[in-house]
Amino acid sequence: MARPPAARASLDYNKSNVSGKTFYLETFGCQMNAHDSEKVIGALMARGYEPVDTPAEAGLVLYNTCSIRDKAEQKVFHRLQQFQREAGKGKIFGVLGCVAQQEGERIFERAPHVSLVAGSASYTRLGEMLTQLEAGNRRVTGLSLDIDQAFETPFTRRDNPHRAYITIIEGCDKSCAYCVVPFTRGPERSRAGESVMAEARGLAERDYTEIQLLGQNVNSYRDPSPAGWDFATLLARVAEIPGIRRVRYTTSHPRDFGKSIVDAMDSNTAICDHVHLPAQSGSSRVLAAMDRLYTRDDYMRRIEWIKTAKRRYAITTDIIVGFPGETERDFEETLRLLDEVEYDSLFSFKYSPRPNTAALAMEDRIPEEEKQRRLVILQEKQRAIQIRRNAEWIGRTAEVLVEGRNPALGQWIGRTSDNRILNFTHPGGNGDSLAGRYMPVRVTRSGPNSLVGESASMV
Ligand code: 5AD
Ligand code: SF4
Repeated sequence: MARPPAARASLDYNKSNVSGKTFYLETFGCQMNAHDSEKVIGALMARGYEPVDTPAEAGLVLYNTCSIRDKAEQKVFHRLQQFQREAGKGKIFGVLGCVAQQEGERIFERAPHVSLVAGSASYTRLGEMLTQLEAGNRRVTGLSLDIDQAFETPFTRRDNPHRAYITIIEGCDKSCAYCVVPFTRGPERSRAGESVMAEARGLAERDYTEIQLLGQNVNSYRDPSPAGWDFATLLARVAEIPGIRRVRYTTSHPRDFGKSIVDAMDSNTAICDHVHLPAQSGSSRVLAAMDRLYTRDDYMRRIEWIKTAKRRYAITTDIIVGFPGETERDFEETLRLLDEVEYDSLFSFKYSPRPNTAALAMEDRIPEEEKQRRLVILQEKQRAIQIRRNAEWIGRTAEVLVEGRNPALGQWIGRTSDNRILNFTHPGGNGDSLAGRYMPVRVTRSGPNSLVGESASMV
């Protein structure tokens, strides 16, 4: 069956129908935001809006924003300033996503040329909000978090023709002391299992082979329909769909990460060899202050399940350094955690105070230079671990999904099931694109962040 065209590339409808309605959407933040944007783009296009490549060409300029750290939040205000002067020329500006939810109507004061402010929990009302904008209303908001449904639309415009995101749960009911997400994405709401399955089957029929299940905390997924599937069940069911060769999921909360998830992974090789399990800190004292609801020992028990599983799974994590009150000793415990787990990769961040969060009022703030010092030490340690771990791959053969080509290096870009980038050469290239194919690749070289190899396929 034919694939749907990618959002930007497809202008396959009659332009005369769109009455000059054009839009530009820039996305910041996590995969949840990236996927929300795919849904918003689909909804706009179904309404006759045409995507354009620059804000200058667009009638409607939208920013789907992130507020996880202060730096991310500042980006959107820079963007808005850049185009402030354009406002007089009849452009409509909208702020969507987490900054919109967090700042609400204050955005209209800070950037008076903005006409739409809407958080992700209000996207179910997108059509209504667009109607208001089209009618000339220049103060349109969608800021209610009082919602019990996930945002679903049949119009999603997916960016990638092989890998598709599916939202299974939105919002978050945890209250990690540093985290703005419960305030920006609202309470947890799971989608019905059958609705997720129908979307996944539909994608398989349209030649998608990889599915990534998304949520702020996928492990607390609970099917609201009578079937009542938990996350492990849903994961196993999606992986059984004919045509689906890879299933990934993100992100996990260690407290809700049960052994049944590892068992589901063990039972079906379509579930990728990768677990992203954010630890945040290796110190039980800091974990308690963060209100993470697990200790270092609890976390290590989960790592044991993963390490003693039937297959070898890559383990990655998120770490925050410089949380209020983090002592040198606490930090050293985090460094020891890295040595113990030997993560395949990690994302590390300096603690950033966020509005509304419990940590905002905590004393013993760590000075910026000290946070920076800890971040560098952490990253250097991890780099050494990755150099060592990646080198273990030399001589092995792994299957990759080909993502594209790097013409400068004359290499194809592949991704392994355990989420490593494995770039490779393929002899006898006759100009055909390999993108979207699954191919065996023999690893010949390794670096801290990726592997290099050569195609081991006969074709
Ligand atoms: N400061 C720094 N990092 C943060 N994260 C979340 N909130 C903050 C914050 N206030 C990190 C966590 C999370 C990742 C997505 O971002 O590590 O897992
Ligand atoms: Fe950023 Fe968190 Fe919102 Fe994602 S959910 S866009 S990471 S603030």
